[in-house]
Amino acid sequence: MSLNLILLGLPGAGKGTQAQFIVDKYHVPHISTGDMFREAISNGTPLGLKAKGFTDNGNLVPDEVTNGIVKERLDKDDTKPGFLLDGYPRTLDQADALSNMTDELSKPLSAVINIDVDPKLLTERLSGRFICKKCGATYHKLYHMPKVPGTCDVCGSHEFYQREDDKPEAVKNRLKVNVKMNTPLISYYQDRNLLFNVDGSKGIDDVWKNVDNILSSL
Ligand code: AP5
Ligand code: MG
Ligand code: ZN
Repeated sequence: MSLNLILLGLPGAGKGTQAQFIVDKYHVPHISTGDMFREAISNGTPLGLKAKGFTDNGNLVPDEVTNGIVKERLDKDDTKPGFLLDGYPRTLDQADALSNMTDELSKPLSAVINIDVDPKLLTERLSGRFICKKCGATYHKLYHMPKVPGTCDVCGSHEFYQREDDKPEAVKNRLKVNVKMNTPLISYYQDRNLLFNVDGSKGIDDVWKNVDNILSSL
């Protein structure tokens, strides 16, 4: 049985953090639209040029662009055992577009996990985040430091960066934009009996225990 998953959650809720654990244990490809846009921007591709004006300010990239890259990605062979969508869908139009894709590809969704965190906690999570330049592993200056200071746990690199959209003004706008869309999306998947809620205000390991319990019960 394939494991076709969505991780929902506001900016900073911990989607990327939990995705690393899920990929390690369940071996499904991690498909993060945010990561795909950032990679395209750093490579200066046409997609990157289209996305940059939106992502830098924390606005949503237009649905037709985002739907297009997800469709292309889900078509690839490595999604046969399943996939983990992180940060997609984010609008009801995207949810409908995804539903068409999964129908066409005969890859029905197995579960949608919503990482639920009070928006008040999220500014601190985003302002303290830093990321390994080489492998993309995510850390936090208070909640998730590398085991050896200054050295990535995953790849051993010593270079880290902060995201352009983690600056205060962009964070404010990202939260505003995403809070608005979050409730209808949750209802959308609740209505389809696919939604699992996880309390994302707990520590990283506790959240993972809950996520893992859900996945191992599917
Ligand atoms: P994207 O990259 O998806 O950003 P986001 O949704 O804002 O979410 P983040 O990646 O910031 O947060 P996360 O939930 O992954 O948290 P993380 O695990 O890193 O999208 C970026 C942009 O691309 C969008 O703004 C938009 O412009 C565009 N885009 C992407 N998808 C799109 C779409 N579908 N449609 C249109 N546009 C789209 O954790 C955050 C921090 O907290 C880390 O430092 C981490 O160490 C720490 N942390 C994690 N969990 C915990 C915990 N339980 N306790 C304490 N600290 C924790
Ligand atoms: Mg992320
Ligand atoms: Zn690394």
